[in-house]
Amino acid sequence: MASIIWERDVAEVYDATWSAMFDPAVLNPAVDLLAELAHQGPAIEFAIGTGRVALPLSARGVPVSGIELSPHMAEQLRAKPNADAVPLTIGDMTTTRVAGTFTLVYLVANTIMNVTTQPEQVDVFANAADHLEPGGCFVVEVIVPQLRRVPPGETARVFEMKTSHVGIETFDDLVGQIAWSHHWMEVQERLVRHSAPYRYVWPSELDLMAQLAGLRLRDRWASWAGEPFTSESTSQIAVFEKPARPGNASVQPAAFPVPRQAYI
Ligand SMILES: C[S@@+](CC[C@H](N)C(=O)[O-])C[C@H]1O[C@@H](n2cnc3c(N)ncnc32)[C@H](O)[C@@H]1O
Repeated sequence: MASIIWERDVAEVYDATWSAMFDPAVLNPAVDLLAELAHQGPAIEFAIGTGRVALPLSARGVPVSGIELSPHMAEQLRAKPNADAVPLTIGDMTTTRVAGTFTLVYLVANTIMNVTTQPEQVDVFANAADHLEPGGCFVVEVIVPQLRRVPPGETARVFEMKTSHVGIETFDDLVGQIAWSHHWMEVQERLVRHSAPYRYVWPSELDLMAQLAGLRLRDRWASWAGEPFTSESTSQIAVFEKPARPGNASVQPAAFPVPRQAYI
């Protein structure tokens, strides 16, 4: 398995550590777009974590379930109000199959990169495609690798420099596309030290993985608010679609009023 299990000490402080991601200004545009793409649902979140996105999406009336590898993250989710509305399966998103088909599968917060080999990232796409009904969408939120920001001759860069959070990423294996992110964070008045490997993945590589899984790129935006994706974009919301069966008009494309990806 190419993912590490998030342990209890990390799970217990996840929401506090990443509180900025729970800010309604950050979360609401994501939930708005996912609700729109889900139509009536059902939806499934791969790597659901503590339910940051799934719980508000469920509160909008979209039936949501989830797959999560870490029992400790799952425990945090299960302790929250209304968590019983979100069925949860402990498993690896590369292989775990939840019964039924879904109008939306989504994988956010850079978590495709937590799977640290290319074949297993390909498996995530295949598994997403297997969960989708024809016409359904697989949504991936992931950064664009920032190798251009690494100074010449160096293998690392500081990506966060606050008194409450210092973050450094090291590009350790350019062939395997393996980097590590290292964090020193002050959370609830104590120092949290966290390091993890990730496999960075290029936009075109995502498109190829989707193609291997029988999906096609429908939209790519630079943010949940629908900003155009360009060569300068540092993150992306990619929407891959499972082709609808001929004559099946039950799932319509989202009427999101923004341009499709534009490489500028
Ligand atoms: C950055 S958190 C994101 C959690 C949640 N999606 C969110 O947006 O807050 C990454 C999550 O992915 C889970 N994870 C990592 N690899 C996984 C895998 N192969 N299958 C399922 N879950 C995985 C971790 O346990 C963790 O809960």
